[in-house]
Amino acid sequence: MTFFILSLYAALFVCYAGVIIFFLYTLYAFVKGAPFVPTAKKNVKKMLALADLRQTDVLMDLGSGDGRILFAAAPNVRQCIGIEINPLLYWWSRIRTRVKRLNNVQIIRKNLWDVDLSSVDVISLFFIHPKMGKLLKKFDAELKPGARVVSYAFSFPNREPAKREGNIFLYIFSP
Ligand SMILES: C[S@@+](CC[C@H](N)C(=O)[O-])C[C@H]1O[C@@H](n2cnc3c(N)ncnc32)[C@H](O)[C@@H]1O
Repeated sequence: MTFFILSLYAALFVCYAGVIIFFLYTLYAFVKGAPFVPTAKKNVKKMLALADLRQTDVLMDLGSGDGRILFAAAPNVRQCIGIEINPLLYWWSRIRTRVKRLNNVQIIRKNLWDVDLSSVDVISLFFIHPKMGKLLKKFDAELKPGARVVSYAFSFPNREPAKREGNIFLYIFSP
């Protein structure tokens, strides 16, 4: 009986610790950029349709969360790269990649501001409004001509999208 109660306490402790660690990392991600709010699956489909994916494309999801955009895009592109700062989401999405046996999906644990974007064809993005100007500067400086950025919920300041569907925006970058 004592063993049972101790095991129960241990299990509860692990659960509470997990929740607290998750929230601390979510807070950390928020300070570094944006919190984890997954894009609804129907909007993931709309984003990828608007990006007009090609089999030769390298797609990067900046702040890849649980990996859902990468998993949906993988059959239609050459390579999918997820950049995620939260270690719990990084590991969770890596495990899901293995389980789904997606060989063209790679997830990197990194701060997106330190990632070189020069070889990327398509960027998918669901970030926060106050960082969109800073992101635009990075994209203008690093993206190759013709690269596409599909952004859910937020648009770039002072830049007209090439296409728009509701609150999903497509931008095409030129030199
Ligand atoms: C709004 S969520 C979007 C998740 C996913 N792209 C989706 O659409 O379902 C933003 C993600 O960006 C991650 N993130 C925030 N700041 C980051 C940073 N500086 N570098 C890398 N990832 C970051 C968060 O941890 C979170 O998973």
